[in-house]
Amino acid sequence: MERVSTGIKELDDLIEGGFKKNSINLIEGTAGSGKSTLAVQYILDGVKKGEKCVYLSIEERRESFYENMERFGFNLQEYEAVGDFFFYELTAQKLKDFIEKGTLGIEEIMKESGVTRMVIDSITAFSLLYGAEAAQRNAVQTLFTKLKTWNITAMLIAEAELDYSNFGLQYLVDGLMILNYNKVGRQRVRTIEVYKMRGTKHRSTEIVYRIEDNGIRLYPGETVLEA
Ligand SMILES: Nc1ncnc2c1ncn2[C@@H]1O[C@H](COP(=O)(O)OP(=O)(O)OP(=O)(O)O)[C@@H](O)[C@H]1O
Ligand SMILES: [Mg+2]
Repeated sequence: MERVSTGIKELDDLIEGGFKKNSINLIEGTAGSGKSTLAVQYILDGVKKGEKCVYLSIEERRESFYENMERFGFNLQEYEAVGDFFFYELTAQKLKDFIEKGTLGIEEIMKESGVTRMVIDSITAFSLLYGAEAAQRNAVQTLFTKLKTWNITAMLIAEAELDYSNFGLQYLVDGLMILNYNKVGRQRVRTIEVYKMRGTKHRSTEIVYRIEDNGIRLYPGETVLEA
């Protein structure tokens, strides 16, 4: 089976080498847990391997996003300039229009450039546009059908504090990873957990990670001591 690296070797090691090719993977985490950083590391891994990658940013503006990522030494502008990376700043409503009417020209980019990786950051605001649970589930399913026809390996971001899970998003995706920020004694420790990964033998213990000057780094050797 073909695997697509997450961009972090220690994370790949937990899931038999990476995401399944053409799968849809959800990263769930609280505010500031490093979701976007993880997503950019995933995208840059693709770009460095000669792949074309798309980032759909719902609500976070390009300028501030690029600026924040530059702090980690990630130069998105450079990759965008040479046509290896495509960044779309969208509102949730625009993403809805795109899914329902195919506007925005993203579809053309997907087909013409042979895009292989996509990030949607985040899916939460989008799903909230649809009031009832059934409607949310339907909308996400329509989105997933589109993603599957593009033959891409997708990473979706979801905000953990909002209870989106009631419409069953976790059941629809192929893979799910959770970023935790738990109190251990008097301090908080960040851990990542592979919750599910279809067709993959995966570790289920929480692995300590830190957000450092060059991005997210996992520490598989460290154990979390309960208070
Ligand atoms: N050099 C650094 N060292 C340690 N932590 C950092 C560094 N730079 C940024 N951070 C932390 O990384 C976090 C931002 O990461 P990121 O934007 O990926 O999180 P996020 O989960 O996408 O957040 P949001 O929910 O706001 O979208 C900040 O909250 C900050 O605490
Ligand atoms: Mg973010």
